[in-house]
Amino acid sequence: MSRLVCVSNRITLPRKTAAAGGLAVGVLAAMRVEGGLWFGWSGDVAAEPAAQPAIVSRDGIDYATIDLTQTQYDRYYRGFCNTTLWPLFHYLTDRFRYDHEWHEGYRDVNRRFAERLLPLLRPDDRIWVHDYHLIPLARELRALGARQRIGFFLHIPFPHLEVLRLLPPYADLVRNLAQYDLIGFQTAADEQSFHAGLAGVFPEGAPQVKTGSFPIGVDVDGVIAEASAAMRTEPVKRMIAGLIGRRLMIGVDRLDYSKGLVERFTAYQRFLERHATHRGRLIYLQIAPLSRDDIQAYAAIREALEQATGRTNGRFADTDWTPLRYLNKNFPHGTLMGFMRAAQVGIVTPLRDGMNLVAKEFVAAQDPADPGALILSSLAGAARELDGAVIVNPYDLRGVAQAVETSLAMPLAERQARHSAMLATLRGNDLKAWYTNFLAALSAGV
Ligand code: G6P
Repeated sequence: MSRLVCVSNRITLPRKTAAAGGLAVGVLAAMRVEGGLWFGWSGDVAAEPAAQPAIVSRDGIDYATIDLTQTQYDRYYRGFCNTTLWPLFHYLTDRFRYDHEWHEGYRDVNRRFAERLLPLLRPDDRIWVHDYHLIPLARELRALGARQRIGFFLHIPFPHLEVLRLLPPYADLVRNLAQYDLIGFQTAADEQSFHAGLAGVFPEGAPQVKTGSFPIGVDVDGVIAEASAAMRTEPVKRMIAGLIGRRLMIGVDRLDYSKGLVERFTAYQRFLERHATHRGRLIYLQIAPLSRDDIQAYAAIREALEQATGRTNGRFADTDWTPLRYLNKNFPHGTLMGFMRAAQVGIVTPLRDGMNLVAKEFVAAQDPADPGALILSSLAGAARELDGAVIVNPYDLRGVAQAVETSLAMPLAERQARHSAMLATLRGNDLKAWYTNFLAALSAGV
């Protein structure tokens, strides 16, 4: 079998705390089984990045990383990746900004990635590039003479053509994607949007590009084992003791405006206003580790959430009850799975999301004998699979408040039926199926 080479901006380095986000989890799972080389950004900024990547080997995986200069970090990562592509691809067009220099920086870093990666490649490697940071990488590698098969997976949504067209160099982006031997999307809808984009850019006939939808999933048995084991650990036992018999609703999201947290907090406030009987009886725990916090839009959302938390607790809390517990800290994955198992309701209401693995983890973490209910945004990729969730439009605050009430009132038999149907779906489309199917399609050729 030829060697697997994964390339992503963010990588899970041994001994560094795992970055939040589905990409790092998914790629690590594939690399653990397949072995190979994982190339990416070290996470560090250096005045003069080394000419050679730093290489660390651990458990069959070689991690090769490069640093970015401050200018590259500002233009490529903060600018084009996270202030241009991220909001645009999530349809949040009011947050979208464009700067020609950011685009230059994006191309520059992709060229740099290709130059540093090329000497590490072997002729029969399979190269798998991940996410929006690295769309031009295949073109850059090809320009340097790379002939290996190169696949690409987009972890976030792909927007409709009329949204994509807001981006001045959108045609370049589509042409660069067309350089890959295989492009994978989270859902068939994203794949269709890409083909519409392709037709828009090549009106006289689009080139043949092999695409597929490969919904990313979770390691179902791994989550079940983690969640059950976590129930016997101190942090989970202490959290449950702190509930003193009250019911728990949980949300776990990177602190990102695409996750719909401000809307969710407002909907929860509505719920408390309208359903006085639940006051004093439900605790909503929102875990939101900081993410990209040196980008202005992320700092602003953080402030808005702090204010909303203060408003809700100031208005509704009592001497022995705090309705909203809002934490910016991160927890080990197993502890999070235990918290989820202890919850009666999981709430996942992104304004737009490629997939959302938290929704899938919540389902897998439940006790099948007494499972919690999941509230899920219709605008998350996961909603296309998890039809046993209480599906909501995250902008419909009254609808979300109503979904909290519906979830709390849901009879045991209904919760069990919904849970077992969703668990079966998760097993059919698990994490292993994601990378196995993608790599098989990449090897199969056009
Ligand atoms: C999302 C993206 C990933 C990214 C992750 C964390 O899941 O799809 O590409 O790695 O967020 O964001 P960060 O900017 O910290 O890598």
